Order: sequence, then structure tokens, then C-alpha cells
Amino acid sequence: MTPPTEIEPNDAGALSLNLRAAERGDSDRLFEWVNRADSLVAKLMTAAPIPRADHERWFAARLAAEDCLIWIAEVDGAAVGQVRCERRGDAFEVDIYVEAAQRRRGLALRMLEVAVARVRTEYQDARLIARVRTGNMASQRLFQRAGFQASAGAAAAADHHLVYFQEPTTGEGK
Ligand SMILES: CC(C)(COP(=O)(O)OP(=O)(O)OC[C@H]1O[C@@H](n2cnc3c(N)ncnc32)[C@H](O)[C@@H]1OP(=O)(O)O)[C@@H](O)C(=O)NCCC(=O)NCCS
Repeated sequence: MTPPTEIEPNDAGALSLNLRAAERGDSDRLFEWVNRADSLVAKLMTAAPIPRADHERWFAARLAAEDCLIWIAEVDGAAVGQVRCERRGDAFEVDIYVEAAQRRRGLALRMLEVAVARVRTEYQDARLIARVRTGNMASQRLFQRAGFQASAGAAAAADHHLVYFQEPTTGEGK
């Protein structure tokens, strides 16, 4: 019989991860996360901290929008990150964040897989995309691991980011 194995570095499978829909009461948490330095540095459009009033307007609009899905990831009941899938044109764009202390445990990969499956349940023909800065190795690895392909179009390259995409699943299982 195989002896017990060591605890694996990627222990997300052993954690009780839950993705619940974001609600109004999550505004403070999301405001804090979005303005963290490691979050701002990953953004393409926003470099400066986001003012509170802008955040409140943005969040209220996103909660009201049908095709913007925001989930809060919880481990043992404590919020550890967020994943947002928001329609832009014919695609849903993904944004994801995990608290620094909770990283490298496979949580983002599990969160992304659950989020993608949920989007696909509701929007079968959805194309998923993520715009990732060329220097953001963690995010690039994450989307690769989740089965996204990278396309380096000229516009994206000029803007120092890569577009990761996943086409709709067709055929089997539909
Ligand atoms: C990107 C982010 C969500 C990854 O979260 P995470 O929970 O640490 O990711 P996971 O543990 O699920 O790791 C997924 C894959 O990425 C790899 N990875 C994670 N962090 C990495 C890093 N700093 N450098 C290189 N690879 C990294 C993991 O090793 C894993 O790949 P593997 O299975 O081949 O080993 C997290 O670093 C984060 O919130 N960053 C700031 C915000 C951000 O950049 N968001 C993305 C915007 S598009």
C-alpha cells in the first residue's frame, strides 16, 4: 500500500471553496481589493487608486447588469478573492483576484474553472477572454492552466498585454 503522501503545495482541492454571488455588502471588500497595489498593477485601464464614489457607482451598475457576474470566493466562510465575468461585445471578460496570503494554493485555478462553467451554463455560446499584462506571469500561467489560448495581436502587444481566450464548447455534452 502506498504510504501517506506529503501535503501538496497545491492544496486547493482539500480546501472547502465556495463561490457565492457578490452582493451590496461586498462593496467595502471589493473597494479594498481593487485598490491594492498588486491589483492596480495588473489593470490595463486604471493605474491610479479608484475613488470611493467611482467605485460605488461602478459596483451598483455591475450588480444591476444582467451580463456581469461577480462571485466572492470563500474558504471556510472567509472571503479570499473575487472573480468577475462581464460581457464586452461577443465575449465575457474575466477579472480575478486572490488575497496575497492565499496564493499559490491552486485557489484561482479552481475559482476560474467554476466561474467558466457557470458562465457556460447560462451563455452556451460565450467566448471568454482575459487581458493579461505581459509581465504578469502568475496570471498568464493561471489562464494557460485553465485551458485558455494566448493571442498576441498587434494592438494588445503595443499595449503590453496578451489576450487569453477560450472559445465556446460545442458538440458533446450540449
Ligand atoms: C493571478 C492570481 C489570481 C493567481 O492566484 P493564485 O491563487 O495564486 O493562482 P493558483 O494558485 O491557482 O495558480 C495557478 C497557476 O499559476 C501559477 N502561478 C501562480 N502564481 C504564480 C507566480 N507568481 N509566478 C508564476 N506562476 C504562478 C501556479 O503555479 C499555477 O500553475 P501550476 O499549476 O502550473 O503550478 C493572483 O496572483 C492575483 O490575485 N494576482 C493579482 C491580481 C491579478 O493579477 N489578477 C489577474 C488579472 S488578469
